[in-house]
Amino acid sequence: MTPAKHLRGYALLHDARFNKGSAFTQAERDALGLDGLLPDQVQDIQVQVARVHNQLEAIADDLQKYLFLSDLQGRNQTLFYAVLMSDPARFMPLVYTPTVGEACQKFDHVFRGTRGLYLPITAKGRVRELMKNWPEDDLRFIVVTDGERILGLGDLGVGGMGIPIGKLALYTACAGVPPDLTLPVTLDVGTNNQDLREDPLYLGLRQERVRGAEYHAFVDEFVSAVQELYPKCCIQWEDFANFNAYAILDRYRDQICTYNDDIQGTAAVALAGLYGAIRISGRKLSEQTVLFLGGGAAATGIAELISEAMALEGLTIEQARGRNWLYDIQGLITAGRDGLTDFQKPFSHEHPAVASFVEAIESIKPTAIVGVSTVPKLFNRAVIEAMSRINPRPIIFPYSNPTSHSECTAQEAYSWSAGRAIFASGSPFDPVDFAGKTFIPGQGNNVYIFPAIGLAVLATEARRVTQQMFICAAQAVAEQVTQDQLDSGLIYPPQSRILEASLHAATRVAQLVFDHGLARVPRPADVAAHVRSFAYAPVYPSYV
Ligand code: NAI
Repeated sequence: MTPAKHLRGYALLHDARFNKGSAFTQAERDALGLDGLLPDQVQDIQVQVARVHNQLEAIADDLQKYLFLSDLQGRNQTLFYAVLMSDPARFMPLVYTPTVGEACQKFDHVFRGTRGLYLPITAKGRVRELMKNWPEDDLRFIVVTDGERILGLGDLGVGGMGIPIGKLALYTACAGVPPDLTLPVTLDVGTNNQDLREDPLYLGLRQERVRGAEYHAFVDEFVSAVQELYPKCCIQWEDFANFNAYAILDRYRDQICTYNDDIQGTAAVALAGLYGAIRISGRKLSEQTVLFLGGGAAATGIAELISEAMALEGLTIEQARGRNWLYDIQGLITAGRDGLTDFQKPFSHEHPAVASFVEAIESIKPTAIVGVSTVPKLFNRAVIEAMSRINPRPIIFPYSNPTSHSECTAQEAYSWSAGRAIFASGSPFDPVDFAGKTFIPGQGNNVYIFPAIGLAVLATEARRVTQQMFICAAQAVAEQVTQDQLDSGLIYPPQSRILEASLHAATRVAQLVFDHGLARVPRPADVAAHVRSFAYAPVYPSYV
């Protein structure tokens, strides 16, 4: 992208989309009225990146680093992405979880400037008008939240905006989705967080959350405005309360290009872990039996996607669901239990009562256990030993976040299984030395999935985002793990090569989109090259 003709001189230096700072060449300085506005030296972007690394080194506190990077994004977008993409594994935790959680909690106190659109429900009837204030004509990706269930932190009102901003930074840094085609949005429908409403610095609407028909009419107005103004745009719903998240996804998933990362991306990354694990244990997905500790949103979402993936291997969906079991705070979920949700019912099977999770393991004989209970330490020694008696290579996935809630640590899983566990967790763990071997635990991070889905949608102008696209992305992630990595216990690709992993997954998903007739562009001869041609690189264009 080159700046509009009128953008030159001082204004050019202050437009983050086009600013190059000290990298403006002398010819550009002469031609664009920049002479005298910059110090003498012309520096390339590598020098600028090195300077940012040094500046970050000097900051001790992660929130301050986040704010520094956020300021950089507002000053020089290309340099911001060059920094992120110089070492994604290092910068992801600074621009997204865990640091973004604190940034959202303190949003009103650390507020300096922001990116994106705030749509208050008081502007109902005028959403299209507000959206037209955004300066770009073409948008392909919106991440939108209403701030009600931000990470595990609850209702943060407009402070939730940190999540769409951070997530979209990862779409770009991890898969090359061009930043100018993305937009973070907050639907401000009020907050039920009384502390926020009473905080004089709070920036959002000071009212209780709007619910019911009025809320859904507002969401409808937003979706219609996006469809009208940006018909190729995919909408990703993020961190809505569960009851709204499912209702919204069900309402729009068969009508527009849309998905919910908390529900579908999360399930896909867990499925990717399972596909990776069975490359070690050597049995087909449809031969696995999975027992979940937890029967909530994460468990049922993952169980459903695993079932659909098992069905692709020839099982009926009922047979597949029959291989997925839930064990929640009341014990094993069996057929006929009162009060089951519609999401739990498919995974409630006939079974005699069991007294404990260990007894459930001994009776059901799962090949994998997945912890999504939010409760730490429930995968105790007895649990891991029971799994290890039944399975030569037990699959142990404690996925509850953050680290302090993990159902077990990597060290515990490897030592209690005598080094036989195939382990991955929701939060990262350091490598573990056990019995003369170094094990590298994998982290089931959604970042393996959503940026790749984003790039595939962009390159194909997909009409819909389907469950099979997530299954395909999961397979594509798992197939990239090398034999050496599998030998060290790693079942996800290393985060340091996330861009390559995402490009591969995006290509596989794009192929599926073409195969299924969901693309709005003709199928190119070389899908991989086509996908790559859309990927943004943080390189300054020449303006003269
Ligand atoms: P939720 O609150 O909907 O469900 C929690 C479930 O755990 C409930 O069914 C509850 O009955 C059960 N539970 C609570 N205490 C228990 C106990 N002592 N024994 C057995 N079951 C118990 O929560 P949600 O949304 O399903 O998330 C669960 C966890 O999974 C969170 O920590 C979340 O961070 C994590 N998660 C991690 C992901 C990842 O790493 N990719 C993806 C999605 C979720």
